[in-house]
Amino acid sequence: MSRAPVRRAGDEPVRVSLTKGELYTWCACGRSSQQPFCDGGSHVGTGIDPLVFEAERDSEVLLYTCKETGTPPICDGSHCRGAPD
Ligand code: FES
Repeated sequence: MSRAPVRRAGDEPVRVSLTKGELYTWCACGRSSQQPFCDGGSHVGTGIDPLVFEAERDSEVLLYTCKETGTPPICDGSHCRGAPD
């Protein structure tokens, strides 16, 4: 299956609270209606799977929506460096 292009879902990261030991499903395709998390269906047919990760500690983090980061799902500031729309 060919892979659909990743969509830019926003220009700003979203601050979320994570709970140690919980699994989270981050949207990698940019199509979720529940950014920054996968909505469970919008990626179907894109060839792109969500990124599942476990929180290592209770924390607040910035999860990116621009889909430009080099450190998914954590924002690395790439959205500030003139990424394309
Ligand atoms: S909706 Fe984007 S990865 Fe699931």
